[in-house]
Amino acid sequence: MNRLAGKVAHVTGAGSGIGQASALRFAAEGAHVMCSDINRQAAEGTASLIDEQGGNSAAIGLDVSSEEDVKAAIAATVSHFGSLQILFNNAGVGGGNGWDKTIAINLSGVYYGLLHGARHMAANGGGAIISTASIAGLLGLYLPPAEADAADDDGEAAERDPGAYVAAKHGVAGLTKQFAIDYGPMGVRVNAVAPGFIETEMTAEFRETEEGNEFLKSLHPIGRLGQPKEIAAAAAFLASDDASFVNGIILPVDGGYSAR
Ligand code: NAI
Repeated sequence: MNRLAGKVAHVTGAGSGIGQASALRFAAEGAHVMCSDINRQAAEGTASLIDEQGGNSAAIGLDVSSEEDVKAAIAATVSHFGSLQILFNNAGVGGGNGWDKTIAINLSGVYYGLLHGARHMAANGGGAIISTASIAGLLGLYLPPAEADAADDDGEAAERDPGAYVAAKHGVAGLTKQFAIDYGPMGVRVNAVAPGFIETEMTAEFRETEEGNEFLKSLHPIGRLGQPKEIAAAAAFLASDDASFVNGIILPVDGGYSAR
């Protein structure tokens, strides 16, 4: 499929996991892709993979919790490739990063992308924005039971606390709906994907024990965790004209997790 031929996409958090798989998928579908990440080297690694598969890419470093960085990265994409039609606000950190950091990256970071991405697209012929929410943007999280001694330790318990993560992802769902309403009339579609547990670096700590892994699998009626490329496929759909009448949805891609 070549659904994104000639379009320019910017993917944040493109150095790893879901962002990397999506950058590769967008490029495979014909998009020119700007890969951005706080880990610039990792973004460059993804850009090299795209070039190896015959695509057209570039890489840039940014911290999505900085509004200036996000604005500058969008401007750099437009100046490098000449335009911007697709923005994937995907960068994020897992639970256990504390309230301020989690909200700054996972919620404010998405807001800055929506604001500056939507403004640019509205003024330049429209486009599609996708953000990575989570099943934690639809429901509270259910994590594998902590080690018995860890649950008694205040520090360890705070480290696992998913409250800020869940609040941020619910916020992403709300922002998605509001921006869809505000920018839909200007030709910008705004949607989100809501992954179940995916096998990336972010979930490695929960999967390191057999019990943890089995517990997580049991939450997904399909009987396994997801792969980054399965989220990339959903993001590519939302980015493409196949989703031309899809606006303001939070699309679960979760093996049935949210059906229970
Ligand atoms: P990952 O850890 O493999 O990738 C996250 C990427 O974001 C990394 O390359 C990291 O360097 C980058 N990043 C972190 N902070 C950043 C910042 N301040 N500015 C720019 N880049 C930054 O994790 P994964 O799983 O690919 O996560 C991607 C998104 O998917 C996140 O928003 C995460 O919350 C979300 N998600 C992940 C799920 C999972 O089970 N892995 C489930 C649901 C949502």
